[in-house]
Amino acid sequence: MNIICRNVSLMSKSRGMWLPVRFFGKAKEAKKEEKSAKKEEKVEKKPKYKTFKIYRYNPENPSAKKPHMQEYTIDLNDCGPMVLHALEKIKSDQDSTLTFRRSCREGICGSCGMNIDGVNGLACLEKISSSSKTKIYPLPHMYVIKDLIVDFERFLEQHKRIRPYLIRCEEDKFEEGCEYYLQSQKDRDKLDGYVECILCGCCATSCPEYWWHGHSKKPNDFLGPAALLNAYRWIIDSRDQATAGRLDQLRNYYSLYRCHQINNCTKCCPKKLKPGVAIARLRTFLAGWTHKETPEMKGTIAGDPNKAARSQCK
Ligand code: SF4
Ligand code: SF4
Ligand code: FES
Repeated sequence: MNIICRNVSLMSKSRGMWLPVRFFGKAKEAKKEEKSAKKEEKVEKKPKYKTFKIYRYNPENPSAKKPHMQEYTIDLNDCGPMVLHALEKIKSDQDSTLTFRRSCREGICGSCGMNIDGVNGLACLEKISSSSKTKIYPLPHMYVIKDLIVDFERFLEQHKRIRPYLIRCEEDKFEEGCEYYLQSQKDRDKLDGYVECILCGCCATSCPEYWWHGHSKKPNDFLGPAALLNAYRWIIDSRDQATAGRLDQLRNYYSLYRCHQINNCTKCCPKKLKPGVAIARLRTFLAGWTHKETPEMKGTIAGDPNKAARSQCK
């Protein structure tokens, strides 16, 4: 039987005496800990060894070997479940010269893209497979800076070329520099599946057409699935007013039409986006079969809509 007491929050009756529940709780916890410690002593974990074969190359060191694969074996009992955990373990315990990009470790920053067992993906989202060996290469058909780090300059320049920002043709009037463009919920929902791109490059570097035509001199290059997905995202945005210009930019032999709809890009996107679908829809725009829908809401909202809410925080 438990009762609430004024000084001791919860009391329990034991052998005719009232004692704080905390007392029993602690004793139980101690017993549990003892038991689990004994169990751990009895069952010694068997080592679970796994080998990672990793691409190594350091062009800055003239005496370095040519690109080669290096093997590292680690005990998985002592490592997190993802490929990025394994790479970090190798770097901290075995070889501090192993080089790779990473930042958020949860599929947000897009910096840990690499080719794992033949498929492009993010090391932080890829589970370590149960096979005895895993091969890791940098993203394919990109210039290697060092080990698993590739040069993204060209990829980002192509992204810049599609003008990944809001363009307004009307002159908007704002109060005190506040910018609030109206967009209905329905129009916003149309952007789902396109705004989530983290520019990891997994799609573009898995696209054969991007391998062949993505690195030619501009403007005679294929923009690749990532840039085209983002171009589509801005073309269908109800607030953007540069639709015609954006489409004209793609109306040439290379920028978009080199895509052969193989959909390798869609298959490997770690964010489950569909660049292949975006490209197919862009084609229908260019063919004149689809037109941008009239926005449900237009213009700007005067003032600061959150002002009232913020004043209550004071
Ligand atoms: S579309 Fe997917 S794979 Fe391509 S860059 Fe964006 S997030 Fe990465
Ligand atoms: S669908 Fe187009 S962009 Fe995607 S992998 Fe195939 S050729 Fe490349
Ligand atoms: S570390 Fe940021 S996406 Fe993998």
